[in-house]
Amino acid sequence: MSRPAPVIAIDGPAGAGKSTAARRLALRLGYKLVDTGALYRGLALAATEAGLDLTDAAAVGALARTLDFDFARGEDGRSRLVLGGVDRDDEIRTEKVAAWASVVSRHPEVREALLGLQRRFGEKGGVVLEGRDIGTVVFPDAEVKIFLTASPEERAKRRVQDLAARGIEADPAVIATEIRERDAADANRAIAPLKPAPDAHLFDTTDHDLDEVVEELVAIVESATKRG
Ligand code: DC
Repeated sequence: MSRPAPVIAIDGPAGAGKSTAARRLALRLGYKLVDTGALYRGLALAATEAGLDLTDAAAVGALARTLDFDFARGEDGRSRLVLGGVDRDDEIRTEKVAAWASVVSRHPEVREALLGLQRRFGEKGGVVLEGRDIGTVVFPDAEVKIFLTASPEERAKRRVQDLAARGIEADPAVIATEIRERDAADANRAIAPLKPAPDAHLFDTTDHDLDEVVEELVAIVESATKRG
């Protein structure tokens, strides 16, 4: 591999603890962080604003090729989506935009349009990319691949806590059912289904707190890059 520094791919379903763990890992290593889900969310927002039918794969794919995506780092170390020079991060973090993103991310035209972009964000290495298909499709040659999971019940619990922190009350049983349905849809979609790369390190975070998860990720990266 001719990259000056490693690419670290972190994939897994929603609620497995990817975002926070990826952010903490990037801070520890002094690497950039790329939240690829934000690209699908930003596209979904822009497509809706443009009045497009989100199921129109060709139209949404064509829009994806024209958008100017960038990332800024927020005060808390989070990566923030900048679309056409404007910070739209708060707007893309809603449940509504998440649902729209799940529709647009199914289109092969969209995935193709965002592929080159994701590769450019990571090409120089020294980067943690977080998503669903980073280790399988975007960077199949990533130096380190990690696939995080957690039980649907645990993921539902975390989701309910996240929502509560934002003042929104939710029923854990309803959320757990939604998570199961989304998992099945993501795992069974025709293009870039959610599945671990054969050479990914699998890590079930169900019984681990965030500090333990980050320590484990650092240990995985250290041993993988030493071997390389
Ligand atoms: O991780 P997230 O919730 O921000 O992702 C938003 C949507 O984008 C979600 O439906 C999964 C999809 N996604 C994807 O298909 N591939 C990625 N690499 C990242 C996200």
